[in-house]
Amino acid sequence: MQTDSFRPDALRIGTPLSANATRVMLLGAGELGKEVIIALQRLGVEVIAVDRYANAPGHQVAHRAHVIDMTDAAALRALVEKEQPHLIVPEIEAIATDALAEIEAAQLATVIPTARATQLTMNREGIRRLAAEELGLPTSPYAFAQSLDEMKAAIATIGFPCVVKPVMSSSGKGQSVLKSDADVEPAWNYAMAGGRVNHGRVIVEGFIDFEYEITQLTVRAADPESGETQTYFCDPIGHVQVAGDYVESWQPQPMSPAALEKARDVAAKVTTALGGRGLFGVELFVRGDDVWFSEVSPRPHDTGLVTLATQRFSEFELHARAILGLPVDTALRAPGASAVIYGGLDETGIVFEGVAQALAVPGADLRLFGKPESFVKRRMGVAVATGADTDEARERAKLAASKVRPVSAQ
Ligand SMILES: Nc1ncnc2c1ncn2[C@@H]1O[C@H](COP(=O)(O)OP(=O)(O)OP(=O)(O)O)[C@@H](O)[C@H]1O
Ligand SMILES: [Mg+2]
Repeated sequence: MQTDSFRPDALRIGTPLSANATRVMLLGAGELGKEVIIALQRLGVEVIAVDRYANAPGHQVAHRAHVIDMTDAAALRALVEKEQPHLIVPEIEAIATDALAEIEAAQLATVIPTARATQLTMNREGIRRLAAEELGLPTSPYAFAQSLDEMKAAIATIGFPCVVKPVMSSSGKGQSVLKSDADVEPAWNYAMAGGRVNHGRVIVEGFIDFEYEITQLTVRAADPESGETQTYFCDPIGHVQVAGDYVESWQPQPMSPAALEKARDVAAKVTTALGGRGLFGVELFVRGDDVWFSEVSPRPHDTGLVTLATQRFSEFELHARAILGLPVDTALRAPGASAVIYGGLDETGIVFEGVAQALAVPGADLRLFGKPESFVKRRMGVAVATGADTDEARERAKLAASKVRPVSAQ
């Protein structure tokens, strides 16, 4: 397995569970990892799924499953030495990325897309400084703060409304929109409680009054002729976020030609700077012809679940192909949409009713992730649908999602 250019005809895939197997380790085995694993399994790859709890969605479809604390560098290193994967595929941000850098430097395995990309994107400061200061990409105005007083000083320059986020957090955790002085102290306290590790550092961002936001899925994959890494784009995905969590997405999101060109320019620059191979989710805010870079996942994106319905190859299949050095095809097949199914109750071993009614909705399909424990706001499944246009697809996906009723098994 190689990461840079190589002869496409020299690529080989072995037999799973044999000495020549092509082994891939997923770090994080949630619903996104599960789909990547299924895609890898179909290509004859041996897959090792790792998560912090037993029976995670991806564990259920992998050759082997492990439960470790992935922020524990020693535990991570020991597991990699034991399993000897060719590729390590992070699915989440909360990983001991320094250990990944050491593993990469020791050439124990190739980290997807690169160890440096996982280090930069796990911290909002790393990726923001790269995008804005090194690459000169348009972003919201921003400043970092280490204390309440520093945060007040930052807000004095950025102004209201603004957004405060812990530098290490995801899914909107610890994040607030501030409109006036009264919001400042609560926002600081919420950020300190909501960060991934108690890092004590926040980013203050000017609030962008966008018309819509998109995920520009971008793939760095081998050109089938030359083997050189090239950049490929999927059609833009529009989405709605509630409290930092995506609830609905659709593809394609209509954009002006100028905005689309800018979005792809930003996406190409940031993904090229991160390097390696694989699929990235570039989050962008759009108003008219203006585009702002927000953040990037160096891995499949939750809003991209819609591609299970819309594309010839889903974002998960594209990731699997790209990381293996195989060619990709990012073509859209049909307009479509996705709608999230939440647990709605706190309980282990719940039951889903209404699945047949959901699947009776024209053009609809469903994924139930198989998570062992439900929480009120935990994503337990997703409905996807195609339609004549994204309006029809959104109606269908929402209708199908609404038919699924998570209930207590007791
Ligand atoms: N500067 C901003 N101006 C306006 N809206 C913002 C800004 N920053 C964030 N948002 C809104 O909040 C959402 C979540 O923000 P962001 O993506 O930075 O957080 P996150 O915790 O990484 O979320 P996720 O993990 O779901 O991507 C954005 O998709 C956008 O809707
Ligand atoms: Mg985001």
